[in-house]
Amino acid sequence: MTHNNKYAKVLSLTAGLIFSATAANVTYAANFKVAVGDGGGSAQHELGKKFVEELEKRSSGKHSAKLFLNGQLGSEQDTVNDAAIGTLDFSILAINNVTPFSPTVGVFSLPYVIQSLDEAVMLTQGEVGKELVANTVRDAGVRIIGWTYTGFRVLTNSKRPIRTLEDLQGVVVRVPKNEIMIDTYKAWGINPTPMAWSETFTALQQGVVDGQDNPYLTVAAMKFDEVQKYVTNIRYIFSIEPLIVSEAVFQDQNKATQKAILEAGQAATEHSAKFLAESETAIKETLTQRGMEIVDPANGEKEWIEKATQAVWPKFYESIGGKDKLNRVLRLLGRNEV
Ligand code: MLT
Repeated sequence: MTHNNKYAKVLSLTAGLIFSATAANVTYAANFKVAVGDGGGSAQHELGKKFVEELEKRSSGKHSAKLFLNGQLGSEQDTVNDAAIGTLDFSILAINNVTPFSPTVGVFSLPYVIQSLDEAVMLTQGEVGKELVANTVRDAGVRIIGWTYTGFRVLTNSKRPIRTLEDLQGVVVRVPKNEIMIDTYKAWGINPTPMAWSETFTALQQGVVDGQDNPYLTVAAMKFDEVQKYVTNIRYIFSIEPLIVSEAVFQDQNKATQKAILEAGQAATEHSAKFLAESETAIKETLTQRGMEIVDPANGEKEWIEKATQAVWPKFYESIGGKDKLNRVLRLLGRNEV
């Protein structure tokens, strides 16, 4: 590729570039765009702020990045497409919205696999996480460079306290457009409503749907307490929300910038784990003060767990890369294989 072509390609990929080129290679300062699905104060926002701060520091001020909150740059799933074709630089989004583009990451969304923050950190930071990073580059044209840890996705609704699967019947629940989550609710006896995240608040407000599930940090940041009254502490998915970079944009950076991006992503990941551990209890408390009623599922969630794992796990062995893949994860977590 000639230098001129290279310049043209880089320009079409990244907004706000200031060039300074030598004959040997191209260097440029960039103001990257980062799409963020959630609003201010969310775990995604915390990770994003730390990433921007660290990127600026690690590139000695040469590179910066701007966060676009609340899905301003499109629905979370749309941002994966945009990053894949290089019209968007970075996005922070829930893992369940990456799964349709790279099914093996579904292993992190299988119900009741990840059971704590420590397990989420261990899996994402270890060999399994590295494999999934490689798979998303291969399948989706995006590279995961950081992980947000957001906590268990609890069920909220505007109708009634839900403790049992019987209580759940008749409640219209919004889910992401994610087959694993759709099938989990089917295993629990209802037909959920798949819907983009960016449309969810309005749908709850207008009563198009009665409920949804997301972690406490997200419920508070998105002000769902204004349109939802009841919370059930189900623990079916521990929410992990990757920071992705367009592989095309990443490959267009010189080595020093790639290093700064990767290190900034790692520093932001570490910050995210601390933020969750330090803030979740207080946020839960705030939601109670704002009028939400929190209940636990009956009988230690037994019937929810049995129905979901029995019906959903076998159905997705193939898409997550085989039953062996799940067994490897279960072994790493010290659990019985299936
Ligand atoms: C979803 O429910 O689509 C996502 O979990 C929302 C989010 O990114 O917080």
